[in-house]
Amino acid sequence: MTTAASAAGPWTAVALTLFPEMFPGPLGHSLAGRALENGLWRLEAHDIRAFATDRHRHVDDTPFGGGPGMVMRPDVIDRAIEATHVAGRRLLYLSPRGRPLDQAMVRDLVAGPGVTLLCGRYEGVDERVIEARAMEEVSVGDYVLSGGEPAAIVLLDACVRLVAGVMGNAETAGQESFETGLLEHPHYTRPADWQGRAVPEVLVSGHHERVRQWRQAEAERITRQRRPDLWQRYAAATRAAG
Ligand code: ADE
Repeated sequence: MTTAASAAGPWTAVALTLFPEMFPGPLGHSLAGRALENGLWRLEAHDIRAFATDRHRHVDDTPFGGGPGMVMRPDVIDRAIEATHVAGRRLLYLSPRGRPLDQAMVRDLVAGPGVTLLCGRYEGVDERVIEARAMEEVSVGDYVLSGGEPAAIVLLDACVRLVAGVMGNAETAGQESFETGLLEHPHYTRPADWQGRAVPEVLVSGHHERVRQWRQAEAERITRQRRPDLWQRYAAATRAAG
């Protein structure tokens, strides 16, 4: 498939970080790693400290108004963005204050040419550069990480597997949790009997339509039990469609 991005080169991620050696990290392995080697996507990790101008290469300072911790300086961050960000790519700041990442946002990010990811450390980033650069704040969950890097790696992992050509079996992606609005049904493989536990009979029946119905019912049951929030949305969408 040819996408808009392919004309301008592969989907590209730029990470702005104080720890460039954290990249590609897990993204250098398995599916994402092979795709990176094969040029299906690109990754640049830039050291924010390279954009500090004082003798001691300070990237942070104490917060105005007092309080604990340090704040990343707007001038340094702005220079890093100026030097590395390409117009048209999305500019994201990973932060627990951000909009929660979900599969719809991931699909949307992959549909574009790429992303620039600002990874914060310390207490955070001076608000003025977030505003001036109109950064989109994105969170990977309601918990606090020690920095934006692991969050950026999570976001990129979710994106890269959807980049055209990365995933071997394109069909698999459409059936996964969140793509259908439901959590996935359970999976089973050999042995058919393990420690006295048999696999559900319908799965060895060879009856494709019954298998499909069983999987749909299980996906609905699991979603209803574990994620009433997703279930409500799914049920409302199903009512609206039907
Ligand atoms: N940085 C620290 N915690 C984070 C989170 N939950 N999501 C994104 N970035 C973060």
